[in-house]
Amino acid sequence: METPRLLLRRLTDADADFILELLNTPSWLRFIGDRGVRNPDDARGYIRNGPQHSYEQHGFGLDLVALKESGTPIGLCGLLKRDYLDHPDIGFAFLPDYAGKGYGYEAASAVIAYARTELGLEKIAAITDPDNTGSIRLLEKLGLRFRKRFFLAGTNEDLLLFETD
Ligand SMILES: CC(C)(COP(=O)(O)OP(=O)(O)OC[C@H]1O[C@@H](n2cnc3c(N)ncnc32)[C@H](O)[C@@H]1OP(=O)(O)O)[C@@H](O)C(=O)NCCC(=O)NCCS
Repeated sequence: METPRLLLRRLTDADADFILELLNTPSWLRFIGDRGVRNPDDARGYIRNGPQHSYEQHGFGLDLVALKESGTPIGLCGLLKRDYLDHPDIGFAFLPDYAGKGYGYEAASAVIAYARTELGLEKIAAITDPDNTGSIRLLEKLGLRFRKRFFLAGTNEDLLLFETD
């Protein structure tokens, strides 16, 4: 997928170093969680068991977001299917150097348009930490609306659910 400034594509094993960096940024660890990815082997395991497994199972998953001009990987954006949500949800994360530049909005708008036109999804959800101001603002800008605050069963994770109309 292509936007004015970005390319979105499937993750491969060759993206392990980028995944290792992204999954250990303070904002990922704080707002998404510690996935225990500490070396390139762990990162390859994450790519295979997470995004690549989802591509095979659902035909969608978190994709790599790169700058079109240089090819530099800057983040992840895509759809996930979680057992505890009725609808696929959109996820996004960018390296700190590339946050706050409108890339999140650009990538997520393209993912939502693709979900509607190519995948035929009528509703798209999103979950976020109540303290994640940037994510909440981005979801509202994308047109998703707050539905409820809930605790994820069996955990102490306090989450906000957003959905498209
Ligand atoms: C949350 C995140 C994806 C937002 O992406 P982004 O590229 O920075 O967002 P954009 O630049 O497209 O901005 C979208 C809107 O959100 C606002 N925004 C972005 N970050 C913000 C912040 N930290 N605080 C307040 N508003 C913020 C922008 O100002 C913009 O709104 P505006 O047009 O009204 O000014 C990014 O900050 C990130 O990767 N965070 C770490 C990982 C994460 O938390 N992922 C979400 C898990 S649910």
